[in-house]
Amino acid sequence: MELLEAIKSRKSIRAFKPEAVPTETMKEVLKIATRAPSSVNSQPWEFFIVKGEKLDQLKSRRVEQLRQGIGPDPDVPLPDKTRGNMGLQGVYKKRQVVLGVSIFKLLGIARGDQKAITDYMEAMYRFFDAPAVVIIAVDKVLQLSYPLIDIGALLQTIALAALEFDLGTCIMRAIADYPDPVREIVGIPESKHVIIGMTMGYPDCDHPINRLKSEREALEDLLTVVE
Ligand SMILES: Cc1cc2nc3c(=O)[nH]c(=O)nc-3n(C[C@H](O)[C@H](O)[C@H](O)COP(=O)(O)O)c2cc1C
Repeated sequence: MELLEAIKSRKSIRAFKPEAVPTETMKEVLKIATRAPSSVNSQPWEFFIVKGEKLDQLKSRRVEQLRQGIGPDPDVPLPDKTRGNMGLQGVYKKRQVVLGVSIFKLLGIARGDQKAITDYMEAMYRFFDAPAVVIIAVDKVLQLSYPLIDIGALLQTIALAALEFDLGTCIMRAIADYPDPVREIVGIPESKHVIIGMTMGYPDCDHPINRLKSEREALEDLLTVVE
C-alpha cells in the first residue's frame, strides 16, 4: 500500500474474521516496525505474541475481572482520577464522548441500555475476539518517560506495516490494564513493565463497528506557525 494512503486509511479495527494470523507474518510486521525511531536508539521495546489457548486464558481472566468490578492498575501510571474519568476534562473529554457515542450509534446501542453496554465492554475485554495480540513490554531498569514516546512511534509503525499484510490492528490499553495476570499467563518476567497491547487480525469489513472513521480536529485549530 502506498504510504500516504496507508496513513490516511489506517484506523482501529474492532471486529475480525476468525481466520488465524500466521506467526511468521506477525514476526515480519514486527521486524519491519523495529525500524521505528527511539530516543538515543535505545529501542526500549520487547514483544510478546499471544495466540491460541494463552490468548483465550487472557481474555477469560480479563472478562472475569471486569465482572468483578476490579479497577485497572496498569504499569503505565494512571491519570489522576480527581481530574475526571481517565484524567480528561473539557475538549479532551468531549472527544472521548464523541468516540463513545459514535461507536454505540454504529452498534445500535441506545443510551442507558445497560445490557448492550455491558456486552460491548465484555467484547472489548475479549479484545474484540482478535485471533492474536502483541504485548509490548519494557524492562523495569528503564524509567517510563521517553520510552513511552518511543513505544508510540513503534505502535503506529506496526499499525502501518500491518496494512501491507492486509492486517487490521487496534492499540488497546484494555489488554494491559491488569499487568499481573498478563505477566502470569503470558510468562512476562516480573522485571518487565507491561506497557500496552495491540490486536492483530484480518478485518471483518462487514461488521458495523469497522465503519467507524473517528473524527479529527481541523489543523488550523491546533497549529501555530512562527517565523
Ligand atoms: C494508547 C492507546 C490506547 C488505546 N486503548 C484502546 C482500548 O483499550 N480500547 C479501544 O477500543 N481502543 C483503544 N485505542 C484506540 C483509540 O480509541 C483510537 O486510536 C482513537 O479513537 C482514534 O481512532 P482510530 O485509531 O480509528 O483513528 C487506544 C489507542 C491508543 C493510542
